[in-house]
Amino acid sequence: MLVLGIETSCDETAAALVEHGDAVRFGDVRSNVIASQTDLHSEYGGVVPEIASRAHAERTLPVVRRALSEAGVGLADVDGIAVGHRPGLIGSLLVGVAAAKALSWSLGVPLVGVDHVHAHLYAGLLDGRGAAFPALGLVVSGGHTALYECASAIEVRRLGGTIDDAAGEAFDKAAAILGLGFPGGPSVDGAARAAGADDRAVELPVSRLGPDSLDFSFSGLKTALLYEVRGKPRPRADGGGFERDASSLSEERRRDLAATFERAVVEAIVIKLGRASDRTPEARTLLCGGGVIANTRLRAALESFAAERGLELRLPAMELCVDNAAMIAGLGGALLASGKKGDLTLTATPTTGC
Ligand code: KG4
Ligand code: ZN
Repeated sequence: MLVLGIETSCDETAAALVEHGDAVRFGDVRSNVIASQTDLHSEYGGVVPEIASRAHAERTLPVVRRALSEAGVGLADVDGIAVGHRPGLIGSLLVGVAAAKALSWSLGVPLVGVDHVHAHLYAGLLDGRGAAFPALGLVVSGGHTALYECASAIEVRRLGGTIDDAAGEAFDKAAAILGLGFPGGPSVDGAARAAGADDRAVELPVSRLGPDSLDFSFSGLKTALLYEVRGKPRPRADGGGFERDASSLSEERRRDLAATFERAVVEAIVIKLGRASDRTPEARTLLCGGGVIANTRLRAALESFAAERGLELRLPAMELCVDNAAMIAGLGGALLASGKKGDLTLTATPTTGC
């Protein structure tokens, strides 16, 4: 079964073809095309929803055509359509959902809606190696940071998640506070890798929450970094604002603060992962996904963690960590094979279902 996946939940327009069959347990990626909109949003320092939806409307069909051509197939070869229909920016999601419905109806092939957060967990299964279940799942992205217990590739149960900012959002805000570029995650990662960077330059809080908590919190860390860079906020009676701005930061200090911030985020994630692993002793695999899984320090920490706990680690390749449609077509194909199907009443929904 050849599944066309479409992904338009945020600022990447993506299409992919994934072949499912007995020989390939979780799907074989035949093409994976991503048109990034970073250049359209960078001058605003974040994603502008209306610009994103307009760009999706212009790019979705050309990206689908390119995915077909890179896979060496035509629309007549497609056996099913999968679309990321939740969560995300509503205007952006609607473009992908409308395109998927039109293609499904006109080709007479089944349609399935896929939860984007769940699909991030599936990304680690696309390397052709197979995986043993049950698994422990970790999604760390721009919009979500959550832990899951996965009975199978299509059955996931949320164990905990962020109570405020997602880790990726915190990376993006840290980059803005440090005067680094957009998108923030890769620029903080780059600054933290600079020669001589000291990851214990200052005290930044590593959030633990309650002793049994499997939730995350990154807003305190972000505020601590802000105060470290700009000093304490002045009372409104004294004119408000901060003691200084980011322009007074030296290159060395910026590099050290980026490394220290990154360490605090990674430590917080590993602490919660440890607690989740204690509660799921039967888990055999650690599935990871989401844009922040591209982070150099986090990848290394996950490798050590999995080795210590005897878990098989499924770290997606870089192009499958960030938003992509291969993960949508992968999970979509597994859902279709299990009998799940959508129809033309499929709607876009801003929140995740898992
Ligand atoms: O999964 P994703 O592409 O989109 C969402 O579903 O949210 O994740 C995007 C997030 C952004 O916040 C970006 O800054 C972060 O992933 N990111 C990184 C790195 N590469 C991307 N964060 C830390 N280090 C990186 N190397
Ligand atoms: Zn994502």
